[in-house]
Amino acid sequence: MEIIIQPDWELASRLAAQVLAHQIRRKPDSVLGLATGSSPLGVYRELIRMHREEGLDFSQVRTFNLDEYIGLPPEHPSSYHCFMHEHLLDQVNLKPSNIHIPNGMTKDISLLCRHYEESIERAGGLDIQLLGLGTNAHIGFNEPSSSLASRTRIKTLSERTLRDNARFFSDSEEAPRHVITMGIGTILDSRRCLLLAFGSKKAGAVAKMVEGAVTAMVPASALQLHPRVQVILDSPAASLLEHRRYYQWVFDHKPDWQRLE
Ligand code: GLP
Repeated sequence: MEIIIQPDWELASRLAAQVLAHQIRRKPDSVLGLATGSSPLGVYRELIRMHREEGLDFSQVRTFNLDEYIGLPPEHPSSYHCFMHEHLLDQVNLKPSNIHIPNGMTKDISLLCRHYEESIERAGGLDIQLLGLGTNAHIGFNEPSSSLASRTRIKTLSERTLRDNARFFSDSEEAPRHVITMGIGTILDSRRCLLLAFGSKKAGAVAKMVEGAVTAMVPASALQLHPRVQVILDSPAASLLEHRRYYQWVFDHKPDWQRLE
């Protein structure tokens, strides 16, 4: 795991966007795993800027989102479909047929999950999976106790995650309790992972993920088993890391040619 600590979320987001842009320029038909939540918003904003001002071309890029709420139609304002279209997909030149987000209204959930896994495989696998981190250390919607070998499937959200995500729903509305999410095994199969965590409320989860034991009770700790993970943090999210000075030292001495690799 490479731990990159930036002074603030804007610099951290810019760095993550540069990694993604480098990937797209090197392989124009890259397969990107995308995430929702507030953490990737700065990255998406920067990618849109690069598309508009620097001609970053998404015309061949394929995308697969991590998860979606069950019971919300794609046009529902709190659905992850809507979130993705608003914050990235409609603002770059992605082909609609290259965009994949699980359909939360599907009748046969297990069939959809199987098809989702097959589509990722048919696309050649995920080149980079972008990830946020839940305060309970979930990735995607893989809540504590999720199997580290899990594939795309239905999950029930924990009370903590429902509380954390209540801000995305109106007061009168109850957030769905069930979701479709890529599994931890699906995420671990991607060739590279880029995890973003910002703010002091993520510091406990970050410390467990990076410096704790690999356990299903800390789903993100499974990333310790992945050969190529970059964890991009702002200072507050890194505040509980025992070895933060060491990570900073390693990053400061990284050879230039390796910076975006
Ligand atoms: C949701 C998403 C996760 C995301 C997490 C953190 O639960 N399913 O993919 O990482 O929220 O959200 P935020 O970035 O808003 O803190």
